[in-house]
Amino acid sequence: MTEEQQKKIDEAIERLKAKQQSVEEEQPVNKPHEEQGVPGMGGSAPKAKEHHSGTEAARSRINEEFAADDNPFSHIKHVIGVVSGKGGVGKSFVTAAMANMMAKKGYRVAIMDADITGPSIPKMYDVHGPAMGNENGTFPETARNGVEIMSINLLLQDEEAPVIWRGPVIAGTVKQFWTDVLWGEIDYMFVDMPPGTGDVPLTVFQSLPIDGIVIVTSPQDLVKLIVKKAYNMAGMMNVPVIGLVENYSYMTCPDCGKKLSVFGESKVDEVAEELEIPVLGKLPINPEFAEKVDWGVCYEIDLPELEEGAKILEQL
Ligand SMILES: Nc1ncnc2c1ncn2[C@@H]1O[C@H](COP(=O)(O)OP(=O)(O)O)[C@@H](O)[C@H]1O
Ligand SMILES: [Mg+2]
Ligand SMILES: [Zn+2]
Repeated sequence: MTEEQQKKIDEAIERLKAKQQSVEEEQPVNKPHEEQGVPGMGGSAPKAKEHHSGTEAARSRINEEFAADDNPFSHIKHVIGVVSGKGGVGKSFVTAAMANMMAKKGYRVAIMDADITGPSIPKMYDVHGPAMGNENGTFPETARNGVEIMSINLLLQDEEAPVIWRGPVIAGTVKQFWTDVLWGEIDYMFVDMPPGTGDVPLTVFQSLPIDGIVIVTSPQDLVKLIVKKAYNMAGMMNVPVIGLVENYSYMTCPDCGKKLSVFGESKVDEVAEELEIPVLGKLPINPEFAEKVDWGVCYEIDLPELEEGAKILEQL
């Protein structure tokens, strides 16, 4: 090798080293940052470059600017977002019900509680923090039916303290739930999405490889308006709508077994037909459900009404 050649090689190596360094500097892992909400949560494992999670189609929809890095210790096959037009319609209840159904079928299931300002998943499963971690990240808590859970409630000192963070911090926290949690092998992850159709859910949509969303409504909702809003938001992000779930759909009379439409007649079929999306299930109101949720044993609730929905999820 001539001196000239050697010099060129040395130069090339120097350039490569410099480039590598700048790449490392661009990807701080544990550095506090405006958009990283939970201090001390980040693992210091090298972030995965190759794809470990999400389907090709779902990954292709992620916006580079917002993309949450994969964790090399997570392998999540399908990600399903659960949204609703307003609070109290049972978004968390439906998230848990779908998760429990898939877990019962033998799939490995996770719930990411991305409703940072109204987290309710840990209480439904009676799981508590502080979540443990190692140098690679934070472990989810495992519910008694095997569902893996991460929620802001498992990280905050005081579970009752209200979270009053601003939007970017909330979105950053959700991204941390993706990047810094050691989810392991998961077939279906359900994301209890931040409420509404504003910036925060939009950022989450663009950060994670979401296969599709499930929209939860109730008969007293302005169903058409709410469904269309969520439908349009998903459309903007190119995220498919998997289907609608109507909660509080009816109540079964304890005396004669007749189905009573407590909150008015269902309009969900009409809207579903118009938008050409399936109805995944119509769930009854049952005071027993609310009790089981309160007692932290939500996985004891049987909802055969969601069987159709499960079949659709299995085809994703
Ligand atoms: N079908 C149902 N029957 C009885 N109680 C329900 C039903 N769906 C939800 N609930 C209860 O209603 C309350 C609100 O539901 P939740 O899922 O927390 O709403 P959201 O997440 O939309 O704010 C919870 O206490 C839950 O247990
Ligand atoms: Mg909720
Ligand atoms: Zn009756």
